[in-house]
Amino acid sequence: MSFLRDKLAGVRLGALLFSQAEAVAFWVVGGLPGVVGFALRTAVYRLFFARLGGFCWVQHGVTIVQSNRLRVGRHFGCNTGSYINAIGGIEMGDYVLIGSNVTISSGMHPIEGALPPVFARPVVPKPIRIEDDVWIGAGAVIMPGVTLRRGTVIGANSVVTRDTEPYTVYVGAPARAVRTRDAGEANA
Ligand SMILES: CC(C)(COP(=O)(O)OP(=O)(O)OC[C@H]1O[C@@H](n2cnc3c(N)ncnc32)[C@H](O)[C@@H]1OP(=O)(O)O)[C@@H](O)C(=O)NCCC(=O)NCCS
Repeated sequence: MSFLRDKLAGVRLGALLFSQAEAVAFWVVGGLPGVVGFALRTAVYRLFFARLGGFCWVQHGVTIVQSNRLRVGRHFGCNTGSYINAIGGIEMGDYVLIGSNVTISSGMHPIEGALPPVFARPVVPKPIRIEDDVWIGAGAVIMPGVTLRRGTVIGANSVVTRDTEPYTVYVGAPARAVRTRDAGEANA
């Protein structure tokens, strides 16, 4: 029982009930394949997210938690295996595309000092902002508190620890800018 006491310390009943309802509802629709899956997930997400701007293209097998603090714009896409935790608040603009197995988590555990164990410390919220037209490559990690400015591209397996510049491509761990995107329209 001390496990539960540590984990649930300070959690309000309303928040606990929301997280349980969210977990069950997302599990029910989370594995459905094809267009039916996209449509049902969009309908259920609309009930739970703080905001969802329109139809979204979220593949099966994506984990989303604390979605009452998740605001998403129009034309949102997210691939299989990604994990989005909006405990600290996540705001996304329009045309955000997330590859497979990406982690976006907006909370941190304080780590200074030996006691109490990190496990038992409350999460510190660190809001994440992802502006319009951002593409995040497969396997990337977006650290708590980071802002990805409009037009940012994040390379596969990168770890983003700092805010990005607009229309700039970042790769590596920690992610570094390698070039800017051509400001003109893309070639077909
Ligand atoms: C970031 C990305 C878009 C850059 O593409 P690009 O502009 O064509 O870049 P290049 O291939 O010319 O690479 C530029 C430099 O960055 C390096 N680089 C590219 N992607 C990298 C990555 N993910 N991690 C580390 N380095 C990377 C290249 O090795 C190259 O370095 P060099 O100049 O020392 O040789 C692409 O590499 C990428 O990671 N795309 C994501 C693909 C993906 O995840 N798809 C599935 C999800 S939808």
